[in-house]
Amino acid sequence: MRRSPRPVLALALLLAAGTGCNTWYNDVPSPDNLLAQVPWFDHMISSQAVWPYSRLGVPRNTPPGTVPVTGGEVDWSAEWAMANTTTADKLVNPTDRIPTARGDTLYHTFCAVCHGVAGAGDGPVGPKVAAPSLLTPRAIGYTDGYLYSITRYGRGIMGKYGDKITEQDDRWQVVNYVRQLQSAVAPAAGGKP
Ligand code: HEC
Repeated sequence: MRRSPRPVLALALLLAAGTGCNTWYNDVPSPDNLLAQVPWFDHMISSQAVWPYSRLGVPRNTPPGTVPVTGGEVDWSAEWAMANTTTADKLVNPTDRIPTARGDTLYHTFCAVCHGVAGAGDGPVGPKVAAPSLLTPRAIGYTDGYLYSITRYGRGIMGKYGDKITEQDDRWQVVNYVRQLQSAVAPAAGGKP
């Protein structure tokens, strides 16, 4: 007689229940720790697809007591959460501020569902969460650094997108794209760099 698959299923469910939604961003274990625990990891790690430390796209916490020599991005989330925009407003947009196809794709992937394809706050989910229009004088008046920060960290009930749009340049492309939407309604404004 075949063994019932139930215990395996129960174990899988238990493991799934134990993993919080945010595990990947905050608690992802180091591959060094996993090596000892997962028997097949020793050859997985040599796969072409696994280069855990060589891709900036994978958010990885710095081990305590170390400093990233390659220049990790500073974290102003605590200040931002207190509605203090000092650091945010001082950020300098490192791009030429010209909108790109990349920004278009990212905006439509992550923002349009609430803020609408043209930024008017009329995406399918927009009214359900009271997502504001991005075309108001207030939104136009934000600095690029403010838009970058809200994209990275979220604000109020708008969640953070820094763990989904992980590359810094990609977040600036989103900022530039929002500026393009704004310049369509207020050609002279275009926001503060
Ligand atoms: C799930 C819906 C949702 C998504 C998706 C979303 N937002 Fe928001 N956004 C909101 C809500 C709700 C607010 C208002 C938050 C508050 O009350 O502080 C907001 C506020 C903003 C503001 C400030 C507007 C103002 O007038 O103060 C900006 C700028 C913004 N979002 C940009 C973005 C960008 C860029 C993205 C994509 C990376 C994005 N949002 C994705 C819901 C969303």
